[in-house]
Amino acid sequence: MSSPTISPTTTATLEYNGKSLALPVTTGSEGEAGIDISQLRAKTGAITMDPGFGNTGACKSAITFIDGERGILQYRGYPIDELAEKSTFLEVAWLLIYGELPTAAQLKEFHELITVHSMVHQDFNRFFEGFPKDAHPMPVCASAVAALATFYQQPETDNNLRESMIRLIAKMPTIASYSYKHSIGQPFMYPMNALDYSSNFLRMMFATPCEDYVVNPVLAKAIDMLLILHADHEQNCSTSTVRVVGSSRANLFASVSAGISALWGPLHGGANQQVIEMLDHIEAEGGDVQKFVNKAKDKKDNSRLMGFGHRVYKNFDPRAVILKKSCTDVLNTLGIKSRQLEIAMQLEEIALKDDYFISHKLYPNVDFYSGIIYKALGIPVNMFTVMFTMGRMPGWIAQWIEMRKDPETRIVRPRQIYTGATKRAYVPMNKR
Ligand code: ACO
Repeated sequence: MSSPTISPTTTATLEYNGKSLALPVTTGSEGEAGIDISQLRAKTGAITMDPGFGNTGACKSAITFIDGERGILQYRGYPIDELAEKSTFLEVAWLLIYGELPTAAQLKEFHELITVHSMVHQDFNRFFEGFPKDAHPMPVCASAVAALATFYQQPETDNNLRESMIRLIAKMPTIASYSYKHSIGQPFMYPMNALDYSSNFLRMMFATPCEDYVVNPVLAKAIDMLLILHADHEQNCSTSTVRVVGSSRANLFASVSAGISALWGPLHGGANQQVIEMLDHIEAEGGDVQKFVNKAKDKKDNSRLMGFGHRVYKNFDPRAVILKKSCTDVLNTLGIKSRQLEIAMQLEEIALKDDYFISHKLYPNVDFYSGIIYKALGIPVNMFTVMFTMGRMPGWIAQWIEMRKDPETRIVRPRQIYTGATKRAYVPMNKR
């Protein structure tokens, strides 16, 4: 799990206040360069400004590699399309956490451990009862994951950490389905050990004490693939949150709970829901796709083509390519005709030929097709981001462990440029 040794190959020179400062350059295993400014303030008194951290490397990581220009996404060196096609979510979880693909024996043991830890403490039932009926499942999940820290309070040894990590992956589908069952007023369904990870989740979502739910393997496979596609995406907003919180030595449950809260935001994990709403809106307005594309291009109009564009991918999002094909396959296999998919494909076709979208490098992102597929699989719209949470869990865990084991980790504490009032005397109340 340790990062490969990376040695600076060149030096950058900074001219500031008439002085010249040599800055070492760190090069990654895929050739990315990072100018090391860790001594900048000590040597010059100045800091760097980078709102949104778009140019700031906060850590070295050996987990996930993204090349946004070439549309590349790799977990531990393995291309995402190969993993989506040939692997399972639990195999990918192991890969992300331990750095190598598991042997058959390792995967079997991992699967057994995940299975036996999938129940949540019975007292959780009362915990869920405290939430309003219409509570969104995301803050419910974030609270439930933080509450795990109250049930498991062992000191942070390697062995206990391994248990915490197993518990998080194992209990997430149970917590996710409880948050949904609570929102519709149905009794919670316990996990069933005979089922695989994704089938178990589907059954806990859709079975009731009155009627069992027979899992369609096509649906379970599609869910598993979606979880793989979401499993990690290097230093995005929620993963950075997990690392920042963990850098203060907060425990794994507390750190991951903060990550879930970050993911809930509409600019991050919430966009798949907005895509569905956009497609519904286009249909309700008569299905004029070109009209909507024109609105999205019009600077006087606030509309955007939801599910298009990405901060990192400037060519194509490899996850969207996989999802587009999978979406068609799943809908065909299930015999579902989706008007939303038809509109989405028309939208994509028109946008990809349009000068505005070409020149702005706007392509479909992971959220463009994931909402359609979730909907076809029967997942309620308010659970879309919870699905993302379940998928991202091994990525958060792997990144948290890597951060904790990295000798270069320091508590995260950015600087600022102060722009407020300069020193002034206190004004008594009767003089204001
Ligand atoms: N539709 C129309 N125009 C767009 C779109 C879009 N979806 N996305 C970006 N643009 C335009 C902007 O208007 C801007 O144009 P201008 O330079 O002429 O003023 C230019 O492209 C750059 O846009 P920014 O918002 O500065 O790009 P940024 O990298 O900050 O944002 C983002 C990326 C948030 C993903 C953006 O493309 C967007 O809002 N997309 C729609 C929402 C979405 O799908 N989000 C999910 C992202 S994937 C994920 O988080 C899992």
